Amino acid sequence: MDPRNIVIMPGDGIGKLLLPEALRVLEASGFRANYIAADIGWEFWRREGDPLPRRTLDLLEEHKIGLFGAITSKPKDQANQEIDPEPKNKGYRYYSPIVGLRQYFNLDVCIRPCRTIKGNPLNFVKRVGSQVIEPDINVVVFRQNTEGLYSGVEWVNPPEKVRSALETHPKMAPFRSTPSEEMAISCRIITRRACRRIITEAFRYARRWGYKNVTVCEKPNILRETSGMMLQEAIKIACDFPEIPLWETNIDAQMMWLSKNPEDYGVLVTSNMFGDIISDAFSGLVGGLGFANSANIGEGCAIFEPTHGSAPKYENLKPSIVNPIAMILSACLMLDYLNEKEKADRIRRAIAAVVAEGKVRTYDMLRLAGGAGVLSQGAASTEEMTDAILAHL
Ligand code: NAI
Ligand code: MG
Repeated sequence: MDPRNIVIMPGDGIGKLLLPEALRVLEASGFRANYIAADIGWEFWRREGDPLPRRTLDLLEEHKIGLFGAITSKPKDQANQEIDPEPKNKGYRYYSPIVGLRQYFNLDVCIRPCRTIKGNPLNFVKRVGSQVIEPDINVVVFRQNTEGLYSGVEWVNPPEKVRSALETHPKMAPFRSTPSEEMAISCRIITRRACRRIITEAFRYARRWGYKNVTVCEKPNILRETSGMMLQEAIKIACDFPEIPLWETNIDAQMMWLSKNPEDYGVLVTSNMFGDIISDAFSGLVGGLGFANSANIGEGCAIFEPTHGSAPKYENLKPSIVNPIAMILSACLMLDYLNEKEKADRIRRAIAAVVAEGKVRTYDMLRLAGGAGVLSQGAASTEEMTDAILAHL
């Protein structure tokens, strides 16, 4: 079989440093592919007025699979200031290209595994009586990736039609005297179809990999319609998976529970913004941004990425100090998706061996403040970490 084509999108900042590290590991695992580089990020916003050029969408449309580094995204005013003179004043508007990718390709299922790697000094610990224990956490967050509060349907100064439609709701009464210019609105749109898909995928995953429970984490006591729909669908779908208990938590309480008994949870399923929050929170218990990896999966297209951003302050440090593990674990999720789980597991075992050995640790694992000085304080560079993983492969 010919090697597959994979679209690689390093993006900005440390994305450009880390994606090549993942490719080194993929190569060493025996995985063969043609990598096709595609443009995304701040540079293309500045030069062309579009952080996600059409040609990148075309490549993904053709090859269906992408590996993404990270992008830099800045607030509206700054984006308008930094755009080059040529595209300036042509009416371009900045938008987040990764959110754009998720919506364009309807990558509605986001999977974010948060698992303890033994020996990681960043692992969650808790006191039980006089003992300090380090429970094994193995949580996989299923985040609806395209709707909810991130659907992008929002206004400051909403148009008259929107305003008057809203005024038909009795709960608008307290806002009636506020002028539209003084008002901002973001819509939380949830569809039954998307609820069913994310919940079904969560249950299927739990069944396939033997997770002990699926928790639907929402806020149906307050967000009665949107969270209510998610919960309703979860209860229905759970009937098809009688061996897996369905737990229900509220997002606020869940944030508290995860600092008490994170080891009790298995698969967690939730809407877009809650999933963003809860996956960062769980990842913080198992190493944080240097380890947090994710998959964005649609019907027919998938993109894999670390959840961290472009950390621009570390882009030009030589040698680089950032942790490549999140990027490499994201590449492993891509291998899982491509039915190359054996290779993915070999890489994960190599990472686990390096972490357990404890000789090679990037600055984040040593809880150092990032900067050029960390190498002299015993931190490994990015390349040294990758090399250590390769040595174990
Ligand atoms: P960030 O994730 O880039 O960095 C936050 C901090 O986390 C860094 O200062 C660093 O201390 C640590 N960190 C991140 N990745 C690390 C790694 N691999 N190893 C060790 N430490 C690591 O988030 P920040 O600073 O809020 O945003 C920087 C830029 O990235 C912004 O323009 C933001 O919009 C963008 N961003 C992009 C994302 C994406 O591409 N998916 C996600 C989050 C932010
Ligand atoms: Mg996030």
